[in-house]
Amino acid sequence: MPDFIPLISRQAIQARIREIGEQITRDYQDKDLILVGILKGAFIFMADLSRQIGVDHEIDFIGASSYEGTHSTGQIVFTKQPDLEFKDRDILLVEDIVDTGSTLCKIVEFINLLNPRSLNICTLIDKHERRKNKIDVKYACFSLEKGFIVGYGLDYNEKYRNMSEIYDLKL
Ligand code: IMP
Ligand code: MG
Repeated sequence: MPDFIPLISRQAIQARIREIGEQITRDYQDKDLILVGILKGAFIFMADLSRQIGVDHEIDFIGASSYEGTHSTGQIVFTKQPDLEFKDRDILLVEDIVDTGSTLCKIVEFINLLNPRSLNICTLIDKHERRKNKIDVKYACFSLEKGFIVGYGLDYNEKYRNMSEIYDLKL
């Protein structure tokens, strides 16, 4: 059984999402916002973030997967295409965690081909140690130097997404 070391409490997560939601609300007045969650990890964050944003917006999801166990395979597989039309819309990508940045790099490339008016990134966790691609993260709830974390949508081999807090996983 792995060890779960508490890292970010439920209260700290919710307080930070309120702040980021307020910031997004200010920045997207008079915009045409679509929140685009990256499945599967962002599903819980997306649900809470959306409810802290005070401007009208639409919701979509993109499916992408790169991880096996605690290591990125480097190969990104698209598992779901967006449903909405992105052309001339203001797209805010919602990610659980940016690690090497490879997943987001591929997704940003793909979305740019759809000619949105703007494209920004919001992540729950910005993890720095293994970053390989230059990614311009506009909104980050928390920064982390290294480690492998689970809970609040984040998985290890598809498990532990349902935990309400974020834990450092020691295998
Ligand atoms: P990247 O392409 O290396 O940036 O990997 C991003 C994806 O890897 C995220 O969307 C997560 O699904 C997964 N990932 C990266 N680090 C962690 C972690 O610490 N815990 C759980 N999943 C992670
Ligand atoms: Mg994952």
